[in-house]
Amino acid sequence: MDCLRITGGVPLAGTVTAGGSKNAALPIMAASILVDGPIALAGVPDLVDVNTLALLLGYLGVEVKRQTNDDLRIECVDNRPTRAEYDLVRRMRASFCVLGPLVARRGRGVVSLPGGCNIGNRPVDLHLAAIEKLGADIHIEHGYVVAQARRLKGAALHLSGPFGPSVTGTANALSAATLARGRTVIIGAAREPEIVNLGEFLNSLGARIAGLGTDTIEIVGVEQLAPTSARAYQVIPDRIETGTLLLSAAITGGSATVRGARPEHLTAVLEALCGCGVDVTSSAGHITVRAATRPRPTNLDARPYPGIPTDLQAQFMALLALANGTSIVGDAVFPDRFMHVAELNRLGARIEHSASTARVHGVPALSGATVMASDLRASAALVLAGLAAGRQTIVRRIYHLDRGYQRLETKLAQLGAEVERYDESQRPAAALHEPALPPPG
Ligand code: UD1
Repeated sequence: MDCLRITGGVPLAGTVTAGGSKNAALPIMAASILVDGPIALAGVPDLVDVNTLALLLGYLGVEVKRQTNDDLRIECVDNRPTRAEYDLVRRMRASFCVLGPLVARRGRGVVSLPGGCNIGNRPVDLHLAAIEKLGADIHIEHGYVVAQARRLKGAALHLSGPFGPSVTGTANALSAATLARGRTVIIGAAREPEIVNLGEFLNSLGARIAGLGTDTIEIVGVEQLAPTSARAYQVIPDRIETGTLLLSAAITGGSATVRGARPEHLTAVLEALCGCGVDVTSSAGHITVRAATRPRPTNLDARPYPGIPTDLQAQFMALLALANGTSIVGDAVFPDRFMHVAELNRLGARIEHSASTARVHGVPALSGATVMASDLRASAALVLAGLAAGRQTIVRRIYHLDRGYQRLETKLAQLGAEVERYDESQRPAAALHEPALPPPG
């Protein structure tokens, strides 16, 4: 199992390039089930989650081939398979995005329920209600959702639940409705740029979708989706990776430019960074941060887009752990997403967590320790804290990190960070004083 060894205290400086968005690429890849003919995608990061979905699509008769570093060629070669097995769906919830396309294109989808998750309760009721409202007959059988319909029919769908709109629920419904007969309106739709990217991808294949980026999306169903040009469709840059890199520079009191980023997708994040006392400048395709002093305490609440993304809440908390005062951090999207608090405290932070908020009492310095990643974004927060902490930090279980960041340590090293990946079973001498733990059961 790989770990990261970080020697903290080095102010970062330099320029890195944003990678393609994981959360945009996944539903776009799932929607390829709908398409007749080969498609090309550009800007698809080489990540564990992307490779997991490629594997699942392979079982579903869709060939996914990586052409160059970030280009994929995808072609559906067999429209008969309809079953997405538990073993693959449980690894990544976004796999559930194949359900809508399967029912819409093949008349049937049998997809394992995704099950539990480290960041809290993550039901799929909104996905199922939407697909049922489009006319599918749905039942649960041995842990699998079985959905079938001769042809879906347009309807009014509600995709917003008690914690706001469901992002992948919107993706599932939007993809399914493109081939439904008649008009569908998605009320309370997710406004995330990743949904806009998906909708524009579908439109490039002949879908008729309007209202992308608003909370009401209208779709007029078409008979078929097919590529009209051989040009690769461009996946947007990853705003979460970009935010993580900017926060990495800020937490070390350094500076960094992320090129290839879309500042307009990060408005709330950049405002929050300014609120923390970080100097931010941006122009088309570039964002630069400079942080010379200790962060200012700032109250933050993660919210659906255009708010601060829940996927950056943990990384912001790492920054605020070093603030000159107390900040209150909440998460309106995943109210239980505070697994990182205990590990940040092991690095010397003073964070109290109760109900759906955390009181972050800033400390002047963090101190390196061995910590355990519990989920994807929590892992990133621990890496950030390690970059700022005195001496050495070892982040274990970084397979979580690899799900969503393509070699984060390489980008951090480009900014001057001292970060090294190593295999725990071949531990370097410097790490030998850390007791080896058994792998998780
Ligand atoms: C997506 C992102 C994830 C991000 C999250 C919120 C992908 C692949 N993943 O996850 O990185 O953290 O959006 O921005 O894009 N909910 C329900 N019923 C449902 C579905 C969701 O109540 O059927 C609730 C969830 O428990 C949560 C909230 O709605 O409280 C938002 O979840 P959702 O947007 O669905 O998250 P994902 O799409 O799974």
